[in-house]
Amino acid sequence: MSSNLASKLRVGTKKAHTMAENVGFVKCFLKGVVEKSSYRKLVGNFYFIYSAMEEEMEKHQNHPIVSKINFPQLNRKQTLEEDLSYYYGFNWREQVKLSPAGEAYVQRIREISATEPELLIAHSYTRYLGDLSGGQILKGIAQTAMNLTDGGTAFYEFAEITDEKEFKAKYRQALDELPIDEATADRIVDEANAAFGMNMKMFQELEGNLIKAIGIMLYNTLTRKRTRGSTELATAE
Ligand code: HEM
Repeated sequence: MSSNLASKLRVGTKKAHTMAENVGFVKCFLKGVVEKSSYRKLVGNFYFIYSAMEEEMEKHQNHPIVSKINFPQLNRKQTLEEDLSYYYGFNWREQVKLSPAGEAYVQRIREISATEPELLIAHSYTRYLGDLSGGQILKGIAQTAMNLTDGGTAFYEFAEITDEKEFKAKYRQALDELPIDEATADRIVDEANAAFGMNMKMFQELEGNLIKAIGIMLYNTLTRKRTRGSTELATAE
């Protein structure tokens, strides 16, 4: 018997997906407006979120429902560690902090793991299927926008997955074959919508940061030009 959870999730989160794509920070990212100080904060939040998600999924490795969606080849914790070491240096652990929205996200993951672990599936779906879908495009954008030539994009690389499309089909089939009733499927869709909301809150937090950073960059460019103009006029630059 199929729960049709894969298409329930796709249809049930369509609106949330459109809303997430339209958050300023995400729109800017897609247009190649990304700067390192905002981006690395997001990577820092992701580190705590994926660590919590992967730890809690592991705790339920014998759970009749959660175990069916535990694919260790998706795990991102290690790739996020690599990226954080790239952006912050060797002592990144002393510098990286959770933002308030990131904190609420982590707390929610811990809470459902203790009370309704089957809802962890919603969190796995929202993040990993999204990563597998847009990952390659976002990786290219990040590399170009931040001039990355020697690292910083490990998060987008799934070393153990050779065909992402094929893997997504396998994941969706596993969702459909979960031994769940209609009410549980509905609760998982509700939680996936909540997970989209938590992602949006994190992006919104970064919006202010990005605007401030762009403002500073613009100010520096303008003032540098003016200073240069005044001292190098004689060389007719
Ligand atoms: C940067 C803006 C985004 C773009 C351009 C984008 C693009 C896409 C595309 C093209 C697909 C379809 C892939 C397919 O049919 O196989 C997809 C699927 C998906 N995306 Fe996004 N996405 C974005 C943001 C997000 C965000 C912020 C999240 C969640 C945090 C997310 C979660 C998902 C999920 C869960 C799927 C799988 C849908 C399904 O087939 O059930 N996406 N995305």
